[in-house]
Amino acid sequence: MSVALSSTDAVARAGGAFPAVVPPVMAGEGPPSTPLSVHAPQGVDGGPSPAMTFGAVPAPAMTVEAASDHTPSETYHRRRGEMLQYFDRTAADTWKRLTSDAPVNRIRATVRAGRDEMRNTMLSWLPDDLRGKRVLDAGCGTGTFSVEAARRGAHVIAIDLSPTLVQHARENLPKDLGDGSIEFHVGDLLDPSLGRFDHVVAMDSLIHYRAPDAVRVLAGLAARTDTSIVFTFAPRTVLLTLMWTAGRLFPRGDKSPAIEPIGQRKIARRVNKGLDGWHTSRTHRINRGFYISQALEVVRP
Ligand SMILES: C[S@@+](CC[C@H](N)C(=O)[O-])C[C@H]1O[C@@H](n2cnc3c(N)ncnc32)[C@H](O)[C@@H]1O
Repeated sequence: MSVALSSTDAVARAGGAFPAVVPPVMAGEGPPSTPLSVHAPQGVDGGPSPAMTFGAVPAPAMTVEAASDHTPSETYHRRRGEMLQYFDRTAADTWKRLTSDAPVNRIRATVRAGRDEMRNTMLSWLPDDLRGKRVLDAGCGTGTFSVEAARRGAHVIAIDLSPTLVQHARENLPKDLGDGSIEFHVGDLLDPSLGRFDHVVAMDSLIHYRAPDAVRVLAGLAARTDTSIVFTFAPRTVLLTLMWTAGRLFPRGDKSPAIEPIGQRKIARRVNKGLDGWHTSRTHRINRGFYISQALEVVRP
């Protein structure tokens, strides 16, 4: 099966990111050289949103984080640079198409269906009524999750490394958000200036980080979250391991950043140990065609 994949199709596996050799981006390389001012409220709530300015890398966040126990590591920085390169440049158009209603080939159709199922699962773990709640969509991509959470009344803080995807999300924002609102940001999901949250959702945005880095991110977010964090990881399955191996065969420049598969028990153990006062709760794996990803809920009792 894996040999039939084009590298771009393969990208979609495991949540839009397939195994592979990483793109040639140097450690610490960040967002585009033109600084981005971010962002007044994106056409929804009319109120002020935290103003943030990001240059080549969301450095302020990192400086603050560096003083805490949740210090992002060198590997986190390197992988983040690769993610930016990939989602903002190499695969931005593919990703826009995948997350739209536009026709896609059969392989990507299974990925889209799997991702829809995952989104619905994660949404079902949030309260039906999110009015008055602040929800962080961490690594929001084109903003599909943000829209659904806002429709339940949430004030969504949607952040992504990719200016291109965030711009796309803003331009395609539906008008029918009901009581909800979305505030878009470009930058690192750990940025402390985003404030506190009731719930955090990270759909397929942490699957590229090594487990210690992902858990450090979760711990950093947990310190600013009151109720729950729902994220996905790439489960270590035989099939995924095979695909990971096959992914290494694709031409170098066309590859997504590697995913970092991890066993369910191992990630649960790490999360329970790393997030003081929190514990893991529900989990659910989606295995649909060319999409494998697993959601895990972590709650503050
Ligand atoms: C596979 S996409 C998923 C997007 C979205 N969550 C969805 O499910 O449609 C992963 C996204 O995470 C973003 N991302 C990865 N690391 C990030 C970080 N440290 N801060 C902000 N965004 C990040 C990437 O730019 C990319 O858009």
